[in-house]
Amino acid sequence: MKGALKTRSEERPQDVQNEKQNFSTVFLLVQLVVVLAAIGGYMLYAKRGHTDLQWWKTSVIYQIYPRSFKDSDGDGIGDLRGIISKLDYFQYLNIKAIWLSPFYTSPMKDFGYDISNHTDVDPIFGTLKDFDDLVKESHSRDIKVIIDFVPNHMSDQHPWFQESLKGTGKYRDYFLWSDGKSSFGMRKPPNNWLGVFSGECWRWNEQRKQYYYHAFVKEQPDLNYRNPDVVKDMNDVLRFWMERGVDGIRVDAIMKLFESENIFQDEPRSNRPDVPAFQYEYLTHIHTENLPEIGDVVRGWKKVMDEYEAKDGQSRFIVVELYDPPAIRNKYYDYGAMPFNFDLVEGLKADCGGNCFMEAISNEYDNLPAGEWPKFVLGNHDRKRVSKRFGVESVNVMNMLLLTLKGTPTTYYGEELGMEEIEVSFEETQDPWGINFGKERYTEFSRDPCRSPLQWDASSQSGFTSSSKPWLPVNPGYKTCNVQVQKKKKDSSLNIYKSLATLREAPAFQDPDVQFAVVNDNILSYVRGTANTGRYLVTMNLGHDSSTADYTNEPANAKSGRVVINTENFNEAKFNVGKSVSLSSLTLKPGQGLVLKL
Ligand code: NOJ
Ligand code: MG
Repeated sequence: MKGALKTRSEERPQDVQNEKQNFSTVFLLVQLVVVLAAIGGYMLYAKRGHTDLQWWKTSVIYQIYPRSFKDSDGDGIGDLRGIISKLDYFQYLNIKAIWLSPFYTSPMKDFGYDISNHTDVDPIFGTLKDFDDLVKESHSRDIKVIIDFVPNHMSDQHPWFQESLKGTGKYRDYFLWSDGKSSFGMRKPPNNWLGVFSGECWRWNEQRKQYYYHAFVKEQPDLNYRNPDVVKDMNDVLRFWMERGVDGIRVDAIMKLFESENIFQDEPRSNRPDVPAFQYEYLTHIHTENLPEIGDVVRGWKKVMDEYEAKDGQSRFIVVELYDPPAIRNKYYDYGAMPFNFDLVEGLKADCGGNCFMEAISNEYDNLPAGEWPKFVLGNHDRKRVSKRFGVESVNVMNMLLLTLKGTPTTYYGEELGMEEIEVSFEETQDPWGINFGKERYTEFSRDPCRSPLQWDASSQSGFTSSSKPWLPVNPGYKTCNVQVQKKKKDSSLNIYKSLATLREAPAFQDPDVQFAVVNDNILSYVRGTANTGRYLVTMNLGHDSSTADYTNEPANAKSGRVVINTENFNEAKFNVGKSVSLSSLTLKPGQGLVLKL
């Protein structure tokens, strides 16, 4: 004890020496601690600020169908100025990226997916100046702009096709032309292929006296990507938009980009029951879908985008549209693009509950190539709305699912409000896909019902347009279901969406893996986050029966959790935001969901 308390006068040289050594050891230790703290701090900062994640990993992507979003000039059709006037809406919702379906010059046979000039804006939607303003205004609000890129086909009114009709010159082989074959003295198309919207896909042209191939409507001839000039010219289209400050592209119908070189080969029967011979699903598309040749073309687009990324250091994004399982879609990662995952849109078993959703979600996570990023979609302009597929009462819980999973979520306009579909008679049907199936079956295929105008307020035509006749009718329920009403209501679908979109930015909902917790026929639950980021339990009843479960075990490993967000459909104050909920016996009814902070 005594030796421990020495006065200065008692110090010996050896002690001084020791003290010097001790001092430098302590100094080194302090330095080490400072350095470690700095590294730790930086790592924490990096996590908090997601400096390691590109914008397209952290953002929600919101799909705008321009015809239906907001009309600024009173012609009943939405336009670019309309979108600009509503950019604050995305700031309100905390949405950082918008994807615009086509706004290019088009005869509108497939509502803009039939482009007659790739480098201009259709007058219905505005001008190039409007587009530039849209990009500028979006960027000034920290919102990225993704455009639809439609490489597979174009309008038959496009100058390239018009030139190609002559059968000579540069554009002669820009499309797939064929003399067809002769059968019993009759001229026939070269093969049995079918159009995606069903029915014929080879069309006789009198001027050129040949058939041309169209995977979609007859006014949408397919381009021939075996012609290097086509590849080059479409790369230039991409450059045109990159020059205008676009941040990413959604690529339309990627699986159809190539057809087998020998077009005299039929596709085999799929043998799917109850599919008539004219329906697309009647055949297995071995000659017309996802051919390996697509890889190099996509890599070429990536290269173009990388040129721009190299200039300004801003990450650019390619997402491709195809409805295929991981074994097929994940090849697109190798090509430099992210494939959409439509597993929650199509293919879920009827009455899908917790187990079945987990299966669909694991299908994405378990098959993801190393280092790639997952993604989830709930709907788009081609498929039925969430309220139609899962029921109006499930809208909030489905948004909870979409926005709390790991991966980029894509939201179709109006899903944040829980918009419902409209009814359109066959006589008034506009969508060619619906019309192809006739009066008996058009409702199975028509995409009009999910494309009705966004419901902004309770005024005439829901504030979408000053015209008395919008291009599609506004849903009659707009007086109560609209942005203005829902903004004011604290626990509306809109405000729940906003809370989810905001919470999603927390580090716990970004990189860390999803750890499934209680999962049964009804419940899907998982834990997000780590001890460092904070941990959350998300639990949702996606089934048809009430379910009581004990969540206290791993991975939640907690006795209770504090409600951060609920789906509003609880009539019990104990589930209010801020309340602590016991996890040992938690009951959720169908359509109910909670995000709990552990
Ligand atoms: C997919 C688009 O999403 C759809 O709306 C369009 O009709 C086809 N591709 C053809 O472009
Ligand atoms: Mg094609």
